[in-house]
Amino acid sequence: MDRVLILDFGGQYNLLIARRVRAEHLYAEIVRYDRITAEQIQQAGYGAVIFTGGPNSVYDETAPRFDPAILSLGVPILGICYGNQLLAYLAGGRIGPAGAGSEFGKAGLVAEDSPLFTGVPARSVCWMSHNDSVLTLPQGFHSIAHTEACPNAAIADDDRRLYGVQFHPEVSHTAFGQQILRNFLFSVCRLQADWNMEDFIEQSIERYRRELAGKRVLLALSGGVDSAVAAALLHRAIGDRLICIFVDHGLLRKDEADAIEAAFRSRFGLQLIRVNAEERFFARLNGVTEPEQKRKSIGEEFITVFAAEAKKLGTIDMLAQGTIYPDVIESGAGASAVIKSHHNVGGLPAVLPFAGIVEPLRNLFKDEVREVGLRLGLPAGLVYRQPFPGPGLAVRILGAITPEKRDLLQQADAILREEIDAALPLTERPNQYFAVLTDQRSVGVMGDARTYGYTVAIRAVSTDDFMTAAWSRLPFDVLESVSTRITNEVRQVSRVVYDITSKPPATVEWE
Ligand code: XMP
Repeated sequence: MDRVLILDFGGQYNLLIARRVRAEHLYAEIVRYDRITAEQIQQAGYGAVIFTGGPNSVYDETAPRFDPAILSLGVPILGICYGNQLLAYLAGGRIGPAGAGSEFGKAGLVAEDSPLFTGVPARSVCWMSHNDSVLTLPQGFHSIAHTEACPNAAIADDDRRLYGVQFHPEVSHTAFGQQILRNFLFSVCRLQADWNMEDFIEQSIERYRRELAGKRVLLALSGGVDSAVAAALLHRAIGDRLICIFVDHGLLRKDEADAIEAAFRSRFGLQLIRVNAEERFFARLNGVTEPEQKRKSIGEEFITVFAAEAKKLGTIDMLAQGTIYPDVIESGAGASAVIKSHHNVGGLPAVLPFAGIVEPLRNLFKDEVREVGLRLGLPAGLVYRQPFPGPGLAVRILGAITPEKRDLLQQADAILREEIDAALPLTERPNQYFAVLTDQRSVGVMGDARTYGYTVAIRAVSTDDFMTAAWSRLPFDVLESVSTRITNEVRQVSRVVYDITSKPPATVEWE
């Protein structure tokens, strides 16, 4: 299988580059520039290397650099933005502030004849974000594109198959970006598009049958997509030697715990232990109002309950986790800033004596995980499930948490989801939508009597990556039916409000 190395110099679009390459059915992996050497790149047999962007200037003392030996390995390289400047710098070129100043945003790209630009019109739009650019070309290179402010917007040494682009081909604002990447991968590097999910499944099953022969594996099933797909895949490989524990903390959405149990036990015949731990969790949360303290309490309680259950099972050899590629990158494997780790079972390995961890989805993106799930026969409702925070409704009940408030919120949230799902086709629904029970009571009037009930907030956002999000423009008719039904059907709620804040400045969740 051909593999593409994305050499990470700290750029913000690095995951996107990997996704774009994978979209071409090529396996791509991101490795920090200081975690691999030129020699290892050669030994690993990568068919192409992409240098990513990064926030530095190549002459900064702390700027990430690389061994110039990489230029003579015979492996084709595409440098993007900072990666382009670094490529030119390593080859002996001169970099500096662009004559006409910095360039941010859309720019008109004028492309010459080049293998990199086959099928790209002479004039098109590209996306720029730079202060420096290549001022003097290294020996053997020539300019193959320019913009108004940047004479060397793309450079090439066709003999050595070294290419650099100052713009970002991976972002959708670059009109022919994907075509440029395709040209590099297929025309220049001559790679074979042979990465697909069917092969991935077969190879994984075969691998885990071998590696986990005779071993018992434990997995914490949360009901989320990742742990569900990891369970389904491992179940195919090792059958009953996979044991799943599902801790029901009583803070899932309405009827969700039963649905998870039904999907896995009845449909898949999976070895599933459901622990009804609602009382313990509510006791632990009693009087806890601070959001981070809620998360911490739930995380700790989860580990205690899980560990106690696991100990009853006797010897367990391995712990399986539904870690996916963005988790791996976000928790520090890449060169960009660590963002945040939402990993809910992150504390488990420390408290249990496992010989090792199995992470069957470690190299997959979310859309790939979904495809694997569907191919393994998981229900579409589960595979396309919205993200749901590990601490569950605890972070959607503002202030103190009680079983009564949980019931109110479950009802309101179920109504919201029913109405949106009935009114909008899948493709038009927001990426995440839910109800929040605020701690705010307000006065209302019902049947001539004064009421003093809770305020429910509706949150609905559209986003690609949940790092930023826009509030969704739900149709007024939908909002109206949601509001009418919630106030009619959920006693103790007298007001419904709509959250029209984007992220940033707000977060998606209220706590
Ligand atoms: P925020 O609120 O940080 O949410 O804008 C971004 C996305 O992450 C989800 N989220 C969590 N997921 N544990 C999780 O597993 C958590 O503690 C947590 N907090 C937020 C949130 O639902 C949204 O999709």
